[in-house]
Amino acid sequence: MPAPTSPSVTPSTATSPALRDRYIDLLMGCLTRELFLDEETHDVDLAKWPGAVDELRATLRTNGWRLTRRGGDADKRGTGNDWPPAAETMVGRRRLDDVRRCVDSVLADDIPGDLIETGVWRGGVTILMRGMLEAWGDVDRKVWVADSFQGLPAPDATAFPQDVGHDLSTVSALAVSADQVRANFERYGLLDDRVEFLEGWFRDTLATAPIERLAVLRLDGDMYESTIDALEALYPLLSVGGYVIVDDYGAWEPCRRACADYRERHGITDEIVSIDWTGVHWRRTA
Ligand SMILES: C[S@@+](CC[C@H](N)C(=O)[O-])C[C@H]1O[C@@H](n2cnc3c(N)ncnc32)[C@H](O)[C@@H]1O
Repeated sequence: MPAPTSPSVTPSTATSPALRDRYIDLLMGCLTRELFLDEETHDVDLAKWPGAVDELRATLRTNGWRLTRRGGDADKRGTGNDWPPAAETMVGRRRLDDVRRCVDSVLADDIPGDLIETGVWRGGVTILMRGMLEAWGDVDRKVWVADSFQGLPAPDATAFPQDVGHDLSTVSALAVSADQVRANFERYGLLDDRVEFLEGWFRDTLATAPIERLAVLRLDGDMYESTIDALEALYPLLSVGGYVIVDDYGAWEPCRRACADYRERHGITDEIVSIDWTGVHWRRTA
């Protein structure tokens, strides 16, 4: 029997801007889990409760049970102010919207170069980048996924005194393996040879990465060291018209300092545009 044909489905509607936007909306709703906030479960920390719950605590421990509450906080997810239990990104809706605008802009303006995030955690921002290339029908650009995949380095007090007092190296929740990130790409059908993993500390991987040119450079490594290493290795590869996005600019003074130092050393005066309470970007003009 011949396959049924539908007059409403044609190659042109399959690539229409409206359909592209709907796919990207859907992808973002999944990556942040905003679409499923009502179903999200969060562990309840009984350690914060008074002694009356001792018996309950013991029962949970004995049975290997967890006490959870249902429902995520839409405001926090919008502003990237929580660490979501299952979402592939913690940056929240506003900063994800900004990634979308920057990628839309370089694709619409034909600014040459690949897309990269340095500091990917579960990979959500880079999954969005790859999905957007697909939706736009781009066939050339790559998405670079740079991370230690074992969390943040301990501050190096000698080389980077700016990081002293800001130690996230023991936070195990920030260590997500490369295999897990690959599995996350696969979940969305977006793992292919145009997704390149750079595994290791930025100081060891970025300067020698086989990247020719970048159109979007997104920094999310929190620390002075992680930010300056990425800027020094990658900013020279950024096309004029491309974007630098800095996730931790407002939240982390060492990150802000690294940007200021780099910009001053290289005479960069491009306007810093605020995205939300922490994220910023600037567009390279020279
Ligand atoms: C806050 S998380 C990134 C959040 C992520 N962009 C998202 O969408 O949810 C910071 C990440 O940076 C990585 N990282 C920080 N400094 C690094 C360094 N110097 N070298 C390699 N990875 C680093 C950590 O392993 C972690 O995955």
